[in-house]
Amino acid sequence: MNYHIKDEGLAEAGRLRIEWAAKSMPVLNQIKERFLKERPLEGVHVGACLHVTTETASLVQTLKAGGADVYLCASNPLSTQDDVAASLVKDSDIPVFAIKGEDNDTYYEHVRAVLDTGPQITMDDGADLVSTLHTQRKELLGNVIGGTEETTTGVIRLRAMASDGVLGYPIVAVNDANTKHLFDNRYGTGQSTLDGFIRSTNRLIAGSTFVVAGYGWCGRGLAMRARGMGARVIVTEVEPLKAIEAVMDGYQVMPMIEAAPLGDFFCTVTGDMNVIRKEHFLKMKDGAIVANSGHFNVELDLKALEELTKKKRTIREYVEEYSLINERRIYILGEGRLVNLATAEGHPSSVMDMSFANQALCSEYIIKKGSGLENRVYSVPKEIDTEIARLKLLSMGINIDTLTQEQEKYLVSWNMGT
Ligand code: ADE
Repeated sequence: MNYHIKDEGLAEAGRLRIEWAAKSMPVLNQIKERFLKERPLEGVHVGACLHVTTETASLVQTLKAGGADVYLCASNPLSTQDDVAASLVKDSDIPVFAIKGEDNDTYYEHVRAVLDTGPQITMDDGADLVSTLHTQRKELLGNVIGGTEETTTGVIRLRAMASDGVLGYPIVAVNDANTKHLFDNRYGTGQSTLDGFIRSTNRLIAGSTFVVAGYGWCGRGLAMRARGMGARVIVTEVEPLKAIEAVMDGYQVMPMIEAAPLGDFFCTVTGDMNVIRKEHFLKMKDGAIVANSGHFNVELDLKALEELTKKKRTIREYVEEYSLINERRIYILGEGRLVNLATAEGHPSSVMDMSFANQALCSEYIIKKGSGLENRVYSVPKEIDTEIARLKLLSMGINIDTLTQEQEKYLVSWNMGT
Protein backbone atom coordinates (compact mmCIF):
# COMPACT_ATOMS: atom_id res chain seq x y z
CA MET A 1 0.00 0.00 0.00
CA ASN A 2 1.26 3.46 -0.90
CA TYR A 3 0.93 5.93 1.98
CA HIS A 4 2.87 8.63 3.83
CA ILE A 5 2.50 9.05 7.59
CA LYS A 6 4.75 9.98 10.49
CA ASP A 7 5.16 6.72 12.37
CA GLU A 8 3.39 3.37 12.08
CA GLY A 9 4.36 2.67 15.68
CA LEU A 10 1.67 5.10 16.84
CA ALA A 11 -1.13 2.85 15.56
CA GLU A 12 -2.05 1.29 18.95
CA ALA A 13 -2.55 4.72 20.56
CA GLY A 14 -4.58 5.84 17.56
CA ARG A 15 -6.77 2.72 17.67
CA LEU A 16 -7.75 3.39 21.28
CA ARG A 17 -8.53 7.05 20.65
CA ILE A 18 -10.60 6.16 17.57
CA GLU A 19 -12.53 3.62 19.67
CA TRP A 20 -13.16 6.25 22.36
CA ALA A 21 -14.44 8.83 19.85
CA ALA A 22 -16.69 6.29 18.12
CA LYS A 23 -18.59 5.78 21.38
CA SER A 24 -19.98 9.33 20.90
CA MET A 25 -20.92 8.85 17.26
CA PRO A 26 -24.13 6.78 17.38
CA VAL A 27 -25.65 8.15 14.18
CA LEU A 28 -22.59 7.41 12.10
CA ASN A 29 -22.31 3.97 13.75
CA GLN A 30 -25.86 3.19 12.73
CA ILE A 31 -25.15 4.24 9.15
CA LYS A 32 -22.04 2.05 9.23
CA GLU A 33 -24.12 -0.99 10.28
CA ARG A 34 -26.52 -0.40 7.39
CA PHE A 35 -23.66 0.25 4.93
CA LEU A 36 -22.07 -3.08 5.93
CA LYS A 37 -25.26 -4.88 4.93
CA GLU A 38 -26.29 -2.85 1.88
CA ARG A 39 -22.84 -1.89 0.46
CA PRO A 40 -24.17 1.25 -1.33
CA LEU A 41 -20.65 2.38 -2.25
CA GLU A 42 -19.41 -0.97 -3.59
CA GLY A 43 -16.29 -0.38 -5.68
CA VAL A 44 -16.59 3.40 -5.48
CA HIS A 45 -13.30 5.20 -5.24
CA VAL A 46 -13.38 8.06 -2.70
CA GLY A 47 -10.63 10.68 -2.39
CA ALA A 48 -10.97 12.50 0.92
CA CYS A 49 -9.19 15.67 2.04
CA LEU A 50 -10.28 16.07 5.67
CA HIS A 51 -8.70 16.84 9.03
CA VAL A 52 -7.18 13.49 10.01
CA THR A 53 -8.81 13.06 13.43
CA THR A 54 -10.45 10.30 15.42
CA GLU A 55 -13.82 11.43 14.07
CA THR A 56 -12.65 11.37 10.47
CA ALA A 57 -11.40 7.84 11.14
CA SER A 58 -14.98 6.76 11.91
CA LEU A 59 -16.19 8.43 8.73
CA VAL A 60 -13.67 6.76 6.43
CA GLN A 61 -14.27 3.40 8.14
CA THR A 62 -18.00 3.90 7.46
CA LEU A 63 -17.36 4.62 3.77
CA LYS A 64 -15.20 1.52 3.61
CA ALA A 65 -17.95 -0.52 5.29
CA GLY A 66 -20.20 0.70 2.45
CA GLY A 67 -17.82 -0.85 -0.08
CA ALA A 68 -15.73 2.23 -1.00
CA ASP A 69 -11.98 2.35 -1.55
CA VAL A 70 -10.91 5.40 0.41
CA TYR A 71 -7.70 7.46 0.12
CA LEU A 72 -7.20 10.20 2.69
CA CYS A 73 -5.03 13.32 2.94
CA ALA A 74 -5.14 16.19 5.42
CA SER A 75 -7.12 19.37 4.81
CA ASN A 76 -4.66 21.44 6.86
CA PRO A 77 -0.91 20.99 7.48
CA LEU A 78 -1.31 21.26 11.28
CA SER A 79 -4.50 19.32 11.99
CA THR A 80 -3.35 15.72 11.51
CA GLN A 81 -3.38 13.38 14.50
CA ASP A 82 -0.41 11.16 13.62
CA ASP A 83 -1.59 8.26 15.76
CA VAL A 84 -4.92 8.23 13.92
CA ALA A 85 -3.15 8.25 10.55
CA ALA A 86 -1.05 5.29 11.71
CA SER A 87 -4.04 3.30 12.91
CA LEU A 88 -5.99 3.91 9.69
CA VAL A 89 -3.08 2.54 7.69
CA LYS A 90 -2.24 -0.42 9.95
CA ASP A 91 -5.66 -1.44 11.31
CA SER A 92 -8.10 -0.37 8.59
CA ASP A 93 -5.98 -0.67 5.43
CA ILE A 94 -6.84 2.87 4.45
CA PRO A 95 -3.99 4.72 2.69
CA VAL A 96 -3.31 8.04 4.40
CA PHE A 97 -1.04 10.85 3.19
CA ALA A 98 -0.72 13.25 6.13
CA ILE A 99 1.85 14.28 8.74
CA LYS A 100 1.23 16.88 11.43
CA GLY A 101 3.42 19.93 10.75
CA GLU A 102 4.09 19.09 7.09
CA ASP A 103 5.17 22.09 5.02
CA ASN A 104 2.99 23.56 2.27
CA ASP A 105 4.80 21.67 -0.51
CA THR A 106 4.34 18.33 1.24
CA TYR A 107 0.72 19.22 1.97
CA TYR A 108 0.02 19.70 -1.76
CA GLU A 109 2.09 16.61 -2.67
CA HIS A 110 -0.29 14.67 -0.43
CA VAL A 111 -3.34 16.26 -2.05
CA ARG A 112 -1.99 15.29 -5.48
CA ALA A 113 -1.17 11.76 -4.26
CA VAL A 114 -4.86 11.27 -3.41
CA LEU A 115 -5.98 12.79 -6.72
CA ASP A 116 -3.60 10.54 -8.64
CA THR A 117 -5.50 7.49 -7.37
CA GLY A 118 -8.39 8.69 -9.59
CA PRO A 119 -11.32 9.39 -7.23
CA GLN A 120 -14.94 9.07 -8.36
CA ILE A 121 -16.14 10.97 -5.31
CA THR A 122 -14.17 13.85 -3.78
CA MET A 123 -14.78 14.65 -0.14
CA ASP A 124 -13.29 18.00 0.78
CA ASP A 125 -12.94 20.30 3.78
CA GLY A 126 -11.94 23.69 2.36
CA ALA A 127 -11.97 22.73 -1.36
CA ASP A 128 -8.21 22.23 -1.82
CA LEU A 129 -8.81 18.82 -3.41
CA VAL A 130 -11.35 20.24 -5.86
CA SER A 131 -9.30 23.30 -6.74
CA THR A 132 -6.08 21.25 -7.23
CA LEU A 133 -8.04 18.79 -9.38
CA HIS A 134 -9.39 21.61 -11.57
CA THR A 135 -6.02 23.35 -11.92
CA GLN A 136 -3.28 20.70 -11.83
CA ARG A 137 -5.04 17.41 -12.60
CA LYS A 138 -7.74 18.41 -15.13
CA GLU A 139 -7.30 15.12 -17.01
CA LEU A 140 -8.80 13.28 -14.02
CA LEU A 141 -12.04 15.30 -13.98
CA GLY A 142 -13.75 12.76 -16.27
CA ASN A 143 -13.55 10.06 -13.54
CA VAL A 144 -15.48 12.08 -11.00
CA ILE A 145 -19.19 11.50 -10.40
CA GLY A 146 -19.61 14.09 -7.65
CA GLY A 147 -18.22 15.50 -4.44
CA THR A 148 -19.07 16.77 -0.99
CA GLU A 149 -17.77 19.82 0.86
CA GLU A 150 -17.64 20.12 4.63
CA THR A 151 -17.04 23.75 5.46
CA THR A 152 -18.25 27.33 4.91
CA THR A 153 -14.99 28.46 3.29
CA GLY A 154 -15.02 25.53 0.86
CA VAL A 155 -18.65 26.11 -0.09
CA ILE A 156 -17.89 29.79 -0.83
CA ARG A 157 -14.98 28.76 -3.10
CA LEU A 158 -17.11 26.15 -4.88
CA ARG A 159 -20.01 28.54 -5.43
CA ALA A 160 -17.47 30.97 -6.95
CA MET A 161 -16.28 28.16 -9.27
CA ALA A 162 -19.89 27.35 -10.23
CA SER A 163 -20.71 30.98 -10.94
CA ASP A 164 -17.56 31.28 -13.09
CA GLY A 165 -18.84 28.23 -15.00
CA VAL A 166 -15.72 26.15 -14.22
CA LEU A 167 -17.04 23.58 -11.74
CA GLY A 168 -16.55 20.25 -13.49
CA TYR A 169 -18.99 18.07 -11.50
CA PRO A 170 -21.80 18.32 -8.91
CA ILE A 171 -20.95 18.98 -5.28
CA VAL A 172 -23.18 18.64 -2.24
CA ALA A 173 -22.55 21.36 0.35
CA VAL A 174 -22.65 19.45 3.63
CA ASN A 175 -22.14 22.74 5.46
CA ASP A 176 -25.61 23.88 4.30
CA ALA A 177 -27.33 21.14 6.32
CA ASN A 178 -28.91 22.38 9.53
CA THR A 179 -27.56 19.29 11.26
CA LYS A 180 -24.09 20.51 10.28
CA HIS A 181 -23.71 24.26 10.66
CA LEU A 182 -26.11 24.78 13.57
CA PHE A 183 -24.18 22.29 15.70
CA ASP A 184 -20.65 21.74 14.35
CA ASN A 185 -20.00 25.41 13.51
CA ARG A 186 -21.66 26.77 16.64
CA TYR A 187 -21.15 24.30 19.50
CA GLY A 188 -18.17 22.50 17.96
CA THR A 189 -16.19 25.64 17.17
CA GLY A 190 -17.29 27.29 20.41
CA GLN A 191 -15.91 24.53 22.60
CA SER A 192 -12.91 23.38 20.56
CA THR A 193 -11.59 26.91 19.98
CA LEU A 194 -11.57 27.68 23.68
CA ASP A 195 -10.02 24.26 24.21
CA GLY A 196 -7.23 25.32 21.81
CA PHE A 197 -6.63 28.58 23.67
CA ILE A 198 -6.62 26.85 27.04
CA ARG A 199 -4.47 23.84 26.14
CA SER A 200 -1.82 25.97 24.49
CA THR A 201 -1.67 28.81 27.04
CA ASN A 202 -3.19 27.50 30.30
CA ARG A 203 -4.51 31.04 30.84
CA LEU A 204 -7.70 31.88 32.72
CA ILE A 205 -10.60 33.05 30.57
CA ALA A 206 -12.67 34.40 33.50
CA GLY A 207 -12.30 38.15 33.93
CA SER A 208 -10.53 38.58 30.58
CA THR A 209 -11.60 40.51 27.51
CA PHE A 210 -12.10 38.17 24.57
CA VAL A 211 -12.41 39.65 21.09
CA VAL A 212 -14.27 37.55 18.50
CA ALA A 213 -13.90 38.71 14.88
CA GLY A 214 -16.90 37.52 12.85
CA TYR A 215 -20.38 36.63 14.03
CA GLY A 216 -21.34 33.77 11.72
CA TRP A 217 -22.26 30.42 13.28
CA CYS A 218 -18.67 29.87 14.45
CA GLY A 219 -18.39 33.36 15.95
CA ARG A 220 -21.75 33.01 17.68
CA GLY A 221 -20.64 29.75 19.28
CA LEU A 222 -17.26 31.10 20.32
CA ALA A 223 -18.69 34.32 21.79
CA MET A 224 -21.30 32.31 23.72
CA ARG A 225 -18.75 29.94 25.21
CA ALA A 226 -16.19 32.68 26.03
CA ARG A 227 -18.93 34.56 27.88
CA GLY A 228 -19.91 31.32 29.60
CA MET A 229 -16.38 31.05 30.96
CA GLY A 230 -16.55 34.54 32.39
CA ALA A 231 -14.97 36.71 29.70
CA ARG A 232 -16.19 40.16 28.65
CA VAL A 233 -16.78 39.54 24.96
CA ILE A 234 -16.30 42.07 22.18
CA VAL A 235 -17.55 41.20 18.69
CA THR A 236 -16.25 42.82 15.50
CA GLU A 237 -18.27 42.52 12.29
CA VAL A 238 -18.63 44.01 8.82
CA GLU A 239 -22.23 42.95 8.15
CA PRO A 240 -24.90 45.15 9.77
CA LEU A 241 -27.36 42.24 10.28
CA LYS A 242 -24.83 40.11 12.10
CA ALA A 243 -23.58 43.11 14.07
CA ILE A 244 -27.06 44.02 15.29
CA GLU A 245 -27.62 40.39 16.27
CA ALA A 246 -24.43 40.47 18.33
CA VAL A 247 -25.59 43.72 19.98
CA MET A 248 -28.96 42.20 20.88
CA ASP A 249 -27.23 39.04 22.10
CA GLY A 250 -25.61 41.35 24.66
CA TYR A 251 -22.07 41.76 23.34
CA GLN A 252 -20.07 44.95 22.86
CA VAL A 253 -19.67 45.57 19.13
CA MET A 254 -17.00 47.86 17.71
CA PRO A 255 -14.38 48.02 14.93
CA MET A 256 -11.19 46.01 15.41
CA ILE A 257 -9.12 49.19 15.73
CA GLU A 258 -11.11 50.06 18.90
CA ALA A 259 -11.09 46.49 20.20
CA ALA A 260 -7.34 46.07 19.66
CA PRO A 261 -6.17 47.93 22.82
CA LEU A 262 -8.85 46.26 24.97
CA GLY A 263 -8.46 42.55 24.26
CA ASP A 264 -6.53 39.93 26.21
CA PHE A 265 -7.51 37.24 23.70
CA PHE A 266 -8.34 37.68 20.01
CA CYS A 267 -9.78 35.07 17.68
CA THR A 268 -10.72 35.45 14.01
CA VAL A 269 -13.56 33.34 12.59
CA THR A 270 -14.50 35.33 9.49
CA GLY A 271 -13.37 33.31 6.45
CA ASP A 272 -11.73 36.46 5.07
CA MET A 273 -8.12 37.60 4.85
CA ASN A 274 -6.06 40.10 6.90
CA VAL A 275 -8.75 40.71 9.49
CA ILE A 276 -6.11 41.54 12.12
CA ARG A 277 -3.50 43.78 10.50
CA LYS A 278 -0.47 45.92 11.27
CA GLU A 279 -2.48 48.84 12.70
CA HIS A 280 -4.28 46.43 15.05
CA PHE A 281 -1.14 44.60 16.25
CA LEU A 282 0.45 47.98 17.01
CA LYS A 283 -2.42 48.93 19.31
CA MET A 284 -2.58 45.66 21.27
CA LYS A 285 -1.59 45.39 24.93
CA ASP A 286 1.65 43.76 25.96
CA GLY A 287 0.88 40.04 26.26
CA ALA A 288 -2.14 39.90 23.94
CA ILE A 289 -2.88 36.36 22.75
CA VAL A 290 -4.02 36.06 19.15
CA ALA A 291 -5.33 33.08 17.17
CA ASN A 292 -7.46 32.13 14.20
CA SER A 293 -10.21 29.53 14.04
CA GLY A 294 -11.25 30.14 10.42
CA HIS A 295 -10.37 27.50 7.83
CA PHE A 296 -7.31 29.16 6.23
CA ASN A 297 -4.28 30.82 7.84
CA VAL A 298 -5.00 34.10 6.07
CA GLU A 299 -7.06 35.90 8.72
CA LEU A 300 -4.05 37.22 10.67
CA ASP A 301 -1.60 39.34 8.69
CA LEU A 302 1.47 37.55 10.04
CA LYS A 303 3.69 39.08 7.36
CA ALA A 304 2.90 42.53 8.75
CA LEU A 305 3.50 41.23 12.28
CA GLU A 306 6.92 39.91 11.24
CA GLU A 307 7.77 43.38 9.89
CA LEU A 308 6.98 44.87 13.30
CA THR A 309 9.01 42.24 15.13
CA LYS A 310 12.51 42.61 16.63
CA LYS A 311 12.72 39.12 18.08
CA LYS A 312 10.72 35.93 17.89
CA ARG A 313 10.83 32.73 19.93
CA THR A 314 8.69 29.70 20.72
CA ILE A 315 7.77 30.08 24.37
CA ARG A 316 5.49 27.04 24.65
CA GLU A 317 4.39 24.41 22.18
CA TYR A 318 2.31 26.20 19.51
CA VAL A 319 2.85 29.60 21.21
CA GLU A 320 5.07 32.02 19.30
CA GLU A 321 6.23 35.16 21.08
CA TYR A 322 6.70 38.23 18.86
CA SER A 323 8.63 41.08 20.54
CA LEU A 324 7.64 44.22 18.70
CA ILE A 325 9.46 47.46 17.95
CA ASN A 326 7.05 49.19 20.37
CA GLU A 327 8.45 47.00 23.20
CA ARG A 328 5.22 44.99 23.53
CA ARG A 329 4.91 41.23 23.10
CA ILE A 330 2.20 39.46 21.14
CA TYR A 331 1.58 35.73 21.25
CA ILE A 332 0.36 33.85 18.16
CA LEU A 333 -1.14 30.39 18.64
CA GLY A 334 -0.71 27.51 16.18
CA GLU A 335 0.98 29.64 13.50
CA GLY A 336 -2.36 31.35 12.82
CA ARG A 337 -3.80 28.07 11.55
CA LEU A 338 -7.12 26.89 12.91
CA VAL A 339 -6.40 26.86 16.61
CA ASN A 340 -9.02 24.27 17.53
CA LEU A 341 -7.27 21.61 15.46
CA ALA A 342 -3.70 22.86 15.64
CA THR A 343 -3.46 23.10 19.45
CA ALA A 344 -6.42 20.91 20.50
CA GLU A 345 -8.30 17.99 18.92
CA GLY A 346 -10.99 19.74 16.90
CA HIS A 347 -14.69 19.47 17.56
CA PRO A 348 -15.88 16.79 19.96
CA SER A 349 -17.12 13.53 18.46
CA SER A 350 -20.78 13.91 19.34
CA VAL A 351 -21.07 16.99 17.13
CA MET A 352 -18.94 15.55 14.30
CA ASP A 353 -21.36 12.60 14.42
CA MET A 354 -23.98 14.69 12.62
CA SER A 355 -21.55 16.39 10.23
CA PHE A 356 -20.07 13.10 9.14
CA ALA A 357 -23.44 11.35 8.98
CA ASN A 358 -24.22 14.01 6.36
CA GLN A 359 -20.98 13.19 4.53
CA ALA A 360 -21.75 9.46 4.48
CA LEU A 361 -25.39 9.86 3.40
CA CYS A 362 -24.52 12.48 0.77
CA SER A 363 -21.96 10.11 -0.79
CA GLU A 364 -24.68 7.50 -1.01
CA TYR A 365 -27.02 10.14 -2.51
CA ILE A 366 -24.45 11.06 -5.21
CA ILE A 367 -24.02 7.41 -6.20
CA LYS A 368 -27.80 6.86 -6.27
CA LYS A 369 -28.33 9.97 -8.42
CA GLY A 370 -25.42 9.06 -10.73
CA SER A 371 -25.36 11.36 -13.73
CA GLY A 372 -28.72 12.91 -12.79
CA LEU A 373 -27.06 15.87 -11.09
CA GLU A 374 -25.79 19.03 -12.84
CA ASN A 375 -22.36 20.62 -12.39
CA ARG A 376 -23.36 22.92 -9.55
CA VAL A 377 -23.40 23.16 -5.77
CA TYR A 378 -26.37 21.41 -4.17
CA SER A 379 -27.67 21.76 -0.65
CA VAL A 380 -28.11 18.59 1.39
CA PRO A 381 -31.57 17.13 0.67
CA LYS A 382 -34.02 18.01 3.46
CA GLU A 383 -34.87 14.33 4.03
CA ILE A 384 -31.24 13.54 4.86
CA ASP A 385 -30.96 16.52 7.21
CA THR A 386 -34.21 15.62 9.01
CA GLU A 387 -33.32 11.94 9.24
CA ILE A 388 -30.00 12.77 10.91
CA ALA A 389 -31.74 15.00 13.48
CA ARG A 390 -34.25 12.20 14.13
CA LEU A 391 -31.54 9.58 14.60
CA LYS A 392 -29.54 11.90 16.87
CA LEU A 393 -32.56 12.52 19.11
CA LEU A 394 -33.27 8.80 19.18
CA SER A 395 -29.69 8.08 20.22
CA MET A 396 -30.09 10.59 23.07
CA GLY A 397 -33.32 8.90 24.23
CA ILE A 398 -35.33 12.06 23.52
CA ASN A 399 -38.89 11.73 22.22
CA ILE A 400 -40.80 14.55 20.56
CA ASP A 401 -44.44 15.20 19.64
CA THR A 402 -46.03 14.42 16.28
CA LEU A 403 -48.61 16.57 14.49
CA THR A 404 -52.27 15.54 14.75
CA GLN A 405 -54.18 15.20 11.46
CA GLU A 406 -55.99 18.42 12.34
CA GLN A 407 -52.70 20.27 12.83
CA GLU A 408 -51.27 18.95 9.56
CA LYS A 409 -54.34 20.22 7.73
CA TYR A 410 -54.12 23.60 9.46
CA LEU A 411 -50.50 24.07 8.38
CA VAL A 412 -51.40 23.76 4.68
CA SER A 413 -54.62 25.81 4.88
CA TRP A 414 -54.94 29.51 4.09
CA ASN A 415 -58.58 30.22 4.90
CA MET A 416 -58.55 29.70 8.69
CA GLY A 417 -57.79 32.89 10.69
CA THR A 418 -58.81 33.67 14.26
N1 ADE B 1 -13.32 19.94 11.95
C1 ADE B 1 -13.43 20.46 13.17
N2 ADE B 1 -13.27 19.52 14.11
C2 ADE B 1 -13.04 18.35 13.46
C3 ADE B 1 -12.81 17.03 13.89
N3 ADE B 1 -12.79 16.70 15.18
N4 ADE B 1 -12.62 16.10 12.95
C4 ADE B 1 -12.64 16.43 11.64
N5 ADE B 1 -12.87 17.66 11.18
C5 ADE B 1 -13.07 18.62 12.08
